[in-house]
Amino acid sequence: MTESPRVAICPGSFDPLTLGHEDIIRRALGLADRVVIAVSHSPSQIKRQLFDVDQRIEMIQEVFADEGRVKVLPFQGLLVDFARKQGATIVVRGLRGVKDFEYEFQMALMNRRLDVSMETVFLAPEPEYAFVSSTLIREISALGGSVDQFLSPSVARRVAAVAR
Ligand code: PNS
Repeated sequence: MTESPRVAICPGSFDPLTLGHEDIIRRALGLADRVVIAVSHSPSQIKRQLFDVDQRIEMIQEVFADEGRVKVLPFQGLLVDFARKQGATIVVRGLRGVKDFEYEFQMALMNRRLDVSMETVFLAPEPEYAFVSSTLIREISALGGSVDQFLSPSVARRVAAVAR
């Protein structure tokens, strides 16, 4: 009997993709045969975003260009519906600390209530990325600070280009 491939989904806004995200996604590849990076976009996000969804997808594809087991797709609506369509049964999320915990725990319980086959796996970040968030990257960059150390070079180039 051939087992069906194990598919994990890494959902998020990724505006922009940080080294913290990359760390979690690469480790998700150790847990699953394939990883779908689900880039969320909803009309309510448009005003606050640095990159539109197509740009975010492009930057993630660039970073994972050598990884054939990664697929990057946009998504809207319920995560469990999208995950099911992709054949994913594992949601992988990074948990940076207690501040993340409450929200993440609530989402995990709700997603499982919505679809009992959906398991959420939390990964602790590498300590060096525990304080990195896209929100802070956007803020620092908007205020003229350097964010290169938190981003892959190709992402850093894109951030620098929009900050100018
Ligand atoms: O990058 P973020 O903001 O941490 O990502 C949050 C995201 C996109 C994973 C979350 O908001 C989400 O799953 N949205 C999809 C809508 C949904 O399914 N809502 C119910 C969750 S219980």
